[in-house]
Amino acid sequence: MVNNGSKITVVGGGSTWTPGILKAITNYQEALDLKEIVLYDIDEERQKPIGEFGKLLFKELCPGIEFKYTTDKETAYKNVDYIFCQIRTGGYKMRELDEKIPLQEGVIGQETCGAGGFAYGIRSLKDMIEMVKDIRKYSKNAWILNYTNPAAIVAYGLTRAFKNDKRILNICDQPINMIYSMAKILNIDPQRLNPSYFGLNHFGWFTHLHDENGEDLLPKLKEMILEHGFAPKDAEQRDKSWLDTYALVEDMVRDFSEYIPSTYVQYYLYPQYKTGKLDTNYTRANEVINGREKKVFNECRNAVENGTTLGSHVVQNDAHGEMIVQIADTIHNNKNKTYIVMVENNGIIPNLPQDAIVEVACILGNRGPIPFHVGEIGTFYKGLLENQYAYEKLTVEAFEEGSYTKALQALTLNRTIVDAKKARVVLDKLIEANKGYWPELK
Ligand code: NAD
Ligand code: G6P
Ligand code: MN
Repeated sequence: MVNNGSKITVVGGGSTWTPGILKAITNYQEALDLKEIVLYDIDEERQKPIGEFGKLLFKELCPGIEFKYTTDKETAYKNVDYIFCQIRTGGYKMRELDEKIPLQEGVIGQETCGAGGFAYGIRSLKDMIEMVKDIRKYSKNAWILNYTNPAAIVAYGLTRAFKNDKRILNICDQPINMIYSMAKILNIDPQRLNPSYFGLNHFGWFTHLHDENGEDLLPKLKEMILEHGFAPKDAEQRDKSWLDTYALVEDMVRDFSEYIPSTYVQYYLYPQYKTGKLDTNYTRANEVINGREKKVFNECRNAVENGTTLGSHVVQNDAHGEMIVQIADTIHNNKNKTYIVMVENNGIIPNLPQDAIVEVACILGNRGPIPFHVGEIGTFYKGLLENQYAYEKLTVEAFEEGSYTKALQALTLNRTIVDAKKARVVLDKLIEANKGYWPELK
């Protein structure tokens, strides 16, 4: 593989994150022995402006590398070494419904948490399982690096559907986003930090943050957050809703001072408060449609019109593109570097179910992720995570079995809902909205 050069295929080529990933790939063309890069999407129209931008970017920065975009599976999946996957089944149109339907019933409406994440999860599972089957038809050994959300549910569902496939790695950029943000507050280089972290995806905590001298900077950081608040590293580029979300880390540290939680934990700790802050008529989907999506597609079109990608500002959040490319690099070159990724529990956290998909620090090389042991977690965290695990498992089983009862159980267990009558109303509305995307629930 190394001598022949490698092929990367980005699935969801029309994603708003693709330009950032392509930009990051250009910095690793030698490290990855890159020969060919392909964008694949089911929506030809949507992918085209990004594909044209990519073509120009590679012509300018990596002229020796073959670049194409396609809607043909064979072109995308044949002889591929690395799949970078980031699809959105149903697009922003369905994301908007995922967020608005629950909010209309007075519960959290969010992309990955609560009823919105549940609806999106059931949509994603069908396409993701089909995608893995398609890839394996053409490339048995390709590494599938997956960002597709809700990653917790996708990861659990894929692990059950492809038990023996050890080359599917589910990843999330929020731990690294938080590390960068924490490093900025500490005013140190993020590379100096060795984080200890446990949880399920979008439901976890930093327990230590050691520097290269072995000093744990977490206690000091908590003090700084309580004094000065918490903000993302790239605050200037962020929409207001993300700034509000980061700011609430301060409240969580004040209320539960042991660890530093992922921003996403707030949806489960303060569901009523958060629901009150969210606008039923203008959700994050609207903010993205009017912001990131417009900006990325306009910038791509402008660059192509001007005949150069130099100086264009299409890249959204460098850390996101960097992470997936660095993960491919650490696997490709067996670098055995540490990343926080999703793996099957299997005793990493002995007092959580073995088959839970946990998110923890792992050494990553060509053997795949080798997790650091976490050990038993405290009662508060165990209670929260057992509950969320049960919700995730029932969601996947509802999809697998087409079971209405399991769907209702899942939503009732979810901390953002709790009330079974409310869960039923939300579920019935989501079933209506997701016709054609979901299996029939009986
Ligand atoms: P987007 O709608 O802009 O992009 C998704 C693309 O996928 C679209 O071009 C769409 O046509 C395509 N697509 C849909 N179904 C497909 C299929 N079956 N096969 C191939 N292509 C398909 O969405 P976005 O906001 O750019 O996000 C893309 C995905 O990445 C989402 O799932 C999002 O939640 C996820 N994401 C995850 C993380 C993470 O931390 N794990 C971070 C950022 C984004
Ligand atoms: C974070 C999360 C992702 C999420 C992304 C974008 O990075 O880890 O899972 O998809 O934010 O969210 P947005 O609301 O901006 O589309
Ligand atoms: Mn994520």
